[in-house]
Amino acid sequence: MKKKWWHKSVVYQIYPKSFKDTTGNGIGDLKGIIKKLDYLKTLGIDVIWLSPVYQSPMEDNGYDISDYQAIDPLFGDLDDMDLLIEEGNKRGIKIVMDLVVNHTSKEHKWFKESRKSKDNPYRDYYIWRDEPNDLRSTFGGSAWTYDDKTNQYYFHNFAKGQPDLNWENPVVQDEIHRMINWWLDRGIGGFRMDVIDLIGKEIDKKIVGNGPRLHPLLQEMNKQTFGNYDVLTVGETWGANPHIAELYSDPERNELSMIFQFEHMMLDWGPLGKWTPKDLDFIQLKNVLSKWQTELKRGWNSLFWNNHDLPRIVSRWGDDKVYRVESAKMLAIILHMMKGTPYIYQGEEIGMTNVKFDSLEEYNDVEIHGSYQDIVVENKYLKHNEFMQGVYQMGRDNARTPMQWNDGKEAGFTEGTPWLKLNPNYKEINVENALERNNSIFYTYQSLIQLRKNSPYSDTIVYGEYKLLLNDDENVFAYIRSDENHELLVIANFTNEEVPLNLEYEAKKIILSNYKDTSFKQSLLRPYEAIIYELK
Ligand code: NOJ
Repeated sequence: MKKKWWHKSVVYQIYPKSFKDTTGNGIGDLKGIIKKLDYLKTLGIDVIWLSPVYQSPMEDNGYDISDYQAIDPLFGDLDDMDLLIEEGNKRGIKIVMDLVVNHTSKEHKWFKESRKSKDNPYRDYYIWRDEPNDLRSTFGGSAWTYDDKTNQYYFHNFAKGQPDLNWENPVVQDEIHRMINWWLDRGIGGFRMDVIDLIGKEIDKKIVGNGPRLHPLLQEMNKQTFGNYDVLTVGETWGANPHIAELYSDPERNELSMIFQFEHMMLDWGPLGKWTPKDLDFIQLKNVLSKWQTELKRGWNSLFWNNHDLPRIVSRWGDDKVYRVESAKMLAIILHMMKGTPYIYQGEEIGMTNVKFDSLEEYNDVEIHGSYQDIVVENKYLKHNEFMQGVYQMGRDNARTPMQWNDGKEAGFTEGTPWLKLNPNYKEINVENALERNNSIFYTYQSLIQLRKNSPYSDTIVYGEYKLLLNDDENVFAYIRSDENHELLVIANFTNEEVPLNLEYEAKKIILSNYKDTSFKQSLLRPYEAIIYELK
């Protein structure tokens, strides 16, 4: 495979609202991100994926854009954005923007025009029908909303305030291409493409994801825009399998650099999806992650445990109490030694955990409230308390509580009142603490990043073969990464107990581990113990 800069990069995702506030309004901003660039440089990342900072009424915290070419005043302005790009560049950090083009906000001027009349020039920018079909919104309720102005329904896969663009309309395609180029010319490092698998939809046939027009549209977009730049593009694609992933990311097809696949992230979803979680089947997790490692051949993987839509991994599949530090490090090690581009979500590097607010009202997320209305109030599939269990375990606000910088007022996030309550554990879990302790989770992430980018093992980690070991072991995740120069063994105990390690190996070196006194040959693994060896 032809080498690309983003094969070797590590990306850090920032959710701007919750990262760092410099104005005292309780909402993070671009100047706050600039202030923390040196921190990110210390961590060692190369790219920031910035969740949306465009002008938005914030119904879905910026995933509802009312002007693609303006920065929301909450976050700053275009000068701040240019400065962020510049200051990032100085430190070798590229800025990848979020591209949300499946839908706009209902406050976008295109939609305001579109809804005025059936013959408005913008009418066909969106999807209007006389009769709705039974498609449902991801955030609960029908995917259609009636507009009495013109006596038709418009389609929105997400909230009512997020009407879907009509990608069948070539004028829409041109508008979006122009906008993409405008950003690329400002010097950004690429795009994370929000629910991009939905743009090829055929609504009348009820095909929403992976529609027939998807790949031609992406090829055209690539040709008109980012294909002419050396940038990273990553598509959010919930419905991908390794074959579909090759369609997107095979370099010869000229679509995207890579995609986010979510197969591993849905393994503990129950009958009502994330709202009725079940226990993780560990063998399944190993199989799914390994399948992606070995079956995605003509394409490129991304690696992640977390983002702004997912609960905190240490609370989900680690132990956020007794073994928080050990388990967070273990999860980092097992993921970062795989093949693909790793993504770290803000706070993951210090082991931030899920949060539990007292009442539903304290949650901000439009998905939580929309789904509550649908599942509890209207359809009565779950009782209030049952739904709240789902929120505690899986709700998106778990990831969105403000970044915990220190143990001072509001964790050093803001001088004012934060838009979403902090996790009270910031007194203990915060960046300042993490930086002061040389055995903190932060430094495990830092080491993993250095191993990938700047070590004798870089090529083995980035491009080496992957082989799963101990396939049927209920407790241990073990695999080998190898090329002609090195053979690396990665092993991890996924439980909070001591477990036997039934593996014969001869280690030459202990490269990294999450316990102090790991030995060259272990027959037992301590709770959440994880080790990277170089083999003889
Ligand atoms: C996926 C984004 O990650 C999520 O936060 C958002 O709510 C939906 N797409 C709609 O844009």
